[in-house]
Amino acid sequence: MKHEQRKPFPKDFLWGGSTSAYQVEGAWNEDGKGPSVIDMAKYPEGTTDFKVASDHYHRYKEDIALFAEMGFKAYRFSIAWTRIYPNGDGEVNRKGIEFYNNLINEIRKHGIEPIVTIYHFDLPFALQEKGGWSNRETIDAYENYCRTLFEHFGDRVKYWLTINEQNMMILHGEAIGTVDPNLKNPKKALYQQNHHMLVAQAKAMALCHQMLPDAKIGPAPNIVTIYPASSKPEDVLAANNYAAIRNWLYLDMAVYGRYNNIAWTYLEQKGYTPTILEGDMEILQNAKPDFIAFNYYTSQTVAASDGKEDVNHTGDQHITVGEPGVYKGASNPHLKKNEFGWEIDPVGFRTTLREIYDRYHLPLIVTENGLGAIDQLEEGDVINDTYRIEFLRNHIEQMQLAISDGVEVFGFCPWSAIDLVSTHQGISKRYGFIYVNRDEFDLKDLRRIRKQSFYWYKQVISSNGANLD
Ligand code: BG6
Repeated sequence: MKHEQRKPFPKDFLWGGSTSAYQVEGAWNEDGKGPSVIDMAKYPEGTTDFKVASDHYHRYKEDIALFAEMGFKAYRFSIAWTRIYPNGDGEVNRKGIEFYNNLINEIRKHGIEPIVTIYHFDLPFALQEKGGWSNRETIDAYENYCRTLFEHFGDRVKYWLTINEQNMMILHGEAIGTVDPNLKNPKKALYQQNHHMLVAQAKAMALCHQMLPDAKIGPAPNIVTIYPASSKPEDVLAANNYAAIRNWLYLDMAVYGRYNNIAWTYLEQKGYTPTILEGDMEILQNAKPDFIAFNYYTSQTVAASDGKEDVNHTGDQHITVGEPGVYKGASNPHLKKNEFGWEIDPVGFRTTLREIYDRYHLPLIVTENGLGAIDQLEEGDVINDTYRIEFLRNHIEQMQLAISDGVEVFGFCPWSAIDLVSTHQGISKRYGFIYVNRDEFDLKDLRRIRKQSFYWYKQVISSNGANLD
């Protein structure tokens, strides 16, 4: 569909940027913080750990001032569960509350709207030692943690995100570092964990509505359109299967409180169905999100599987390997790839926005989108990241086309507001508008440097998306 004239971005559109606690903060064991599963995980050889990251914990004032200079209307960040509850539950760590109080105040001081992710991959290690999400008690610990956040920060935070990319933790948790290496029958265990997380999420949404009637809360999965590798009916069916397993399982549950039928049939066939206790479905059905937040980096393409492929690794968030008899990952000949093998598909972004809105009719916010690249720091503190500008420009254009199609989008928070450590590819894979001067193992001076994309995004925001050049 071609539009003679595009609709403008809504007046109060939330232009911003995103980060997550463990990837940006550093100070991994300071002020009473407990270890998370990420702190205790093994890192791929040649990549840094998350101990210092971008040192945002000590430099947040400078960073927020830079976000304000860019004109951010919103800043999406996550709270480290282990700063609030070093052991996952039990005693509250006052220093942790203090840090996020200061951070939220600083954000608001600059007129920026805080958007808080409650849990972004960094489950407290103390809970993992008791079985993590396999143990139903983690649902209670999460609910208790949510209550504490709502109590302490609910007077200033209007937008809450329950769980970041739950679907990626289930499908690609090994790459991200969230899977307990000691799990027996990991696939089955992961779908039980998934069920517990869905129940926990439903409880958080209900609790938020009860405690903070003016606040809004929603899930934040990674949702992308799935193409069939060809128009062969079997390929189309495979794409349909994968869309149900990767996308709709999560959103159908968050919005309608039911298991998607194709995803459920898949779980039955594989022997992965979770144990559902009496009362669970009621909890799931009674909770409703106010909006859907989602992360989009690229589309995925799959073909029919003949069941004979040798699938022995999981890929990552955007490298789909496949599952014998269900779908087979394919590459899309029409798309270019970034330096890390992720395809680049702005039009797929428009399709994804349309698909989600069409299914759920809830307002949408994009909580991640961006380009991971190896930036070069040139003489005179110049970073010419024209490739990132091009990536974001093309995606923003497609978002505006989706808005012109009638999709309700109220915010765009690309990944990442500032350079931070990638989930499994180190600090050299940069996403930020602001360069952090450090290498994989040399922390240098960690100074902040505005990239070309910083100035470009500033102008996008000040023109409310009208000037993308
Ligand atoms: C998303 C995550 O999967 O993608 C982020 O929510 C992550 O935490 C981002 O950093 C980019 O992925 P990566 O693997 O390049 O860090």
